[in-house]
Amino acid sequence: MQQKIIILDFGSQTTQLIGRRVREMDTFCEILPYNKFPHDDPSVIGVILSGSPYSVYDPEAFKVDLSHIRGRLPILGICYGAQYMSYTNGGNVEPAGSREYGRANLTFIEHGNGLFKGFTANSQVWMSHGDTITALPQGWRAIASTEDVTYAAYQADNEPSWGVQFHPEVFHSMQGTQLLKNFVVDICGSRQDWSSASFVESTVQELRDQLGRDRVILGLSGGVDSSVCAVLLNRAIGDRLTCIFVDHGMLRKNEFRDVMHDYECLGLNVIGVDASDKFLGDLAGVTDPEQKRKIIGRDFIEVFNAEARKITDAKWLAQGTIYPDRIESLNITGKVIKSHHNVGGLPKEMNLRLCEPLKWLFKDEVRRVGRQLGMPDHLITRHPFPGPGLAVRILGDITREKVRILQDADDIYIRALRNYKVNILGKEVRLYDQIWQAGTILLSDVRSVGVMGDERTYEHPVALRAVTSTDAMTADWAHLPYDLLAQVSSDIINKVKGVNRVCYDISSKPPSTIEWE
Ligand code: XMP
Repeated sequence: MQQKIIILDFGSQTTQLIGRRVREMDTFCEILPYNKFPHDDPSVIGVILSGSPYSVYDPEAFKVDLSHIRGRLPILGICYGAQYMSYTNGGNVEPAGSREYGRANLTFIEHGNGLFKGFTANSQVWMSHGDTITALPQGWRAIASTEDVTYAAYQADNEPSWGVQFHPEVFHSMQGTQLLKNFVVDICGSRQDWSSASFVESTVQELRDQLGRDRVILGLSGGVDSSVCAVLLNRAIGDRLTCIFVDHGMLRKNEFRDVMHDYECLGLNVIGVDASDKFLGDLAGVTDPEQKRKIIGRDFIEVFNAEARKITDAKWLAQGTIYPDRIESLNITGKVIKSHHNVGGLPKEMNLRLCEPLKWLFKDEVRRVGRQLGMPDHLITRHPFPGPGLAVRILGDITREKVRILQDADDIYIRALRNYKVNILGKEVRLYDQIWQAGTILLSDVRSVGVMGDERTYEHPVALRAVTSTDAMTADWAHLPYDLLAQVSSDIINKVKGVNRVCYDISSKPPSTIEWE
């Protein structure tokens, strides 16, 4: 049986990060809303309680009865999770005198506690809370404190329940990974057998059992998730998987051709559909961003469905949905937000069932699975790209000429990022791989004056965008090296007819977004 750790989400920003850390220890975990613990699941080996934006004494704070879990399974409460366990057992939690935020150092009161195996004295941890535990329940033991926090870590009396008022999952808690490993491996007894190899092996078998001799349809986008999904299914059912890859005419330069070639080399059964005339025709003269998205969404469904209908014996629709697309995260109004991918208007009469083999994986795990399946690196490391493509990067109406200008400028920029090497901890790596996403935007409604040779020019600017992020929910603009920006600017202006100015976008998300439209 696949062992699993359950992470109960009380609405913290870092809940997903806890999940990733557990997976990095080759241990399967599920993130569930705080009140959805699976009481009858025998494969659970331990529980982590996340932080929360609430105070435990807020009337609207998330509350749940832990009595069925406590003492039966190991529990680790983090921040709110620690305060909640203590508070609901008669401990005291009060607003901290000063908000406890940032780095702090641990002083151990109890030595040799298993949760802190391997810790050095004064180990640095990261605090982020407005409340603090001022008294523990009777018999519970303080393990460590910091200068400002008396009960930085504790253990409950006579049961395998621990609380820490710092965040072991964040990078700035220097031995945080060690703490989580002590909990997950030593205390909970994880066998650490959740790996990309075991995932591929078990998923291929499950897909064979689930799908039998049925035919499956899958929409490919050229992106990592749908491509890995396709290769995995292909491994399981071979040619009974039919992939449909629609070219809406607003992909990157040569992308349709190159990606089709990659797919064919991987042995996939792919139908490539050039529908660029339809999309560009329907978009002619449209400038409003929402309108553009609606047209593209509608046309996509029409084109996809027309192809899908031809596969009359299909029983399943496969999708590259991944775990972050599905996690029911909590917002502070207490409502559960679901962000399931939408199966968007597939014809009802086709009666297709949904198959989502990557639905438990984080993005980095999808990439590892792709490597395990022997997929080429350039397909796996590719940046995310929006479904509507360059349509949301051309401000103003869309024409073939504008698409051509943007493709050429963007190609120069992306190639330069791929070729630029940086040194990270003594290792030479591609700058492209250090960036979440990069792209070029054409400001086609704007013109400015320039001079080339003896000629006055009056043409469009392009903006370059590059961001760092872990999930696209928030993003920082990347501090690209000046020499790279200088080279890209010069190359674009000299080589791409129609562009005479290059800007670099230095906005973060929030308040800006990654895409301009
Ligand atoms: P924003 O612009 O909202 O983008 O900061 C966040 C992430 O989502 C991608 N994105 C899209 N992906 N269809 C998609 O498949 C879309 O309409 C779409 N809009 C934005 C964007 O590229 C970034 O990775």
